[in-house]
Amino acid sequence: MTASPRIIAIENVTKRYLTSSGPVEALHEVSLAVGEGEFCTLIGPSGCGKSTLLGMLGGLVPLDSGRVLVDGQPVTGPDPRRVATVFQDAGLFPWRTTLENVEFGLELQGVPAERRRGVATELLGPLGLRGFAGKYPRELSGGMKQRVAIGRALAIDTKILLMDEPFGALDEQTRLLMGEWLLDIWRRTKKTVIFVTHSLQEALLLSTRIAVMTARPGRIKSVLEVGMDYPRLMESGELVALRAKLWSEIREESLRAMGGRL
Ligand SMILES: Nc1ncnc2c1ncn2[C@@H]1O[C@H](COP(=O)(O)OP(=O)(O)OP(=O)(O)O)[C@@H](O)[C@H]1O
Ligand SMILES: [Mg+2]
Repeated sequence: MTASPRIIAIENVTKRYLTSSGPVEALHEVSLAVGEGEFCTLIGPSGCGKSTLLGMLGGLVPLDSGRVLVDGQPVTGPDPRRVATVFQDAGLFPWRTTLENVEFGLELQGVPAERRRGVATELLGPLGLRGFAGKYPRELSGGMKQRVAIGRALAIDTKILLMDEPFGALDEQTRLLMGEWLLDIWRRTKKTVIFVTHSLQEALLLSTRIAVMTARPGRIKSVLEVGMDYPRLMESGELVALRAKLWSEIREESLRAMGGRL
């Protein structure tokens, strides 16, 4: 449980997908509460339901049983005033420039052209994209594209930011830098971030808490509090010890997901 007021409550959520080969239970009685301003990371084997859980928080995936509350209200569908999502694949519109991509959410909200241009232009500085306003996605590097996707989510200025493996496609060095950059944004905007990653290091460097999920059907296996100040050093004794603990929990579940064999 967290000290700050809870902004997200996931209560006993179960989810089955109907597939051609029968029902697949993706999540089984998952419960998790997230406090306002937290950076909470979900980590667990492939297929354990992390994206499904984010989809539920974003109102894109219906649940079978249980409840998902955002700001005390049950989620009934997408609510771009409260929740923004960054998907693993940047999902930029190739025919739109950087600025136009960042403006997209505001356009959907009916924000007048001049205002949205102002908001998007202002964001380009912290996004590190000031010289790239007029470029198209094909002219940007992978890291830049991810930053445009994050900019699109930041532009609509929600209290909650869902991020599904946002740096998964990037090389390690770019990823580390993007993590530092994201921490800076998070600390300045005080948003609540729910982040999904497969990287132990990324989880440990960024999160206030890490929720480890079991192999499918996903449950919350354990929640690690990471109390250290930022910026963190992976080499610090505390993080090295936490990493060992985290890995032993995840390793067990990843092995189970692979049927107990390597
Ligand atoms: N639309 C769908 N229809 C049927 N099955 C689905 C659907 N979406 C997800 N699943 C199944 O539900 C389970 C959880 O999927 P999900 O994408 O949430 O996992 P994940 O933890 O995000 O995995 P990864 O780490 O690989 O992204 C998987 O077994 C997946 O095959
Ligand atoms: Mg996923």
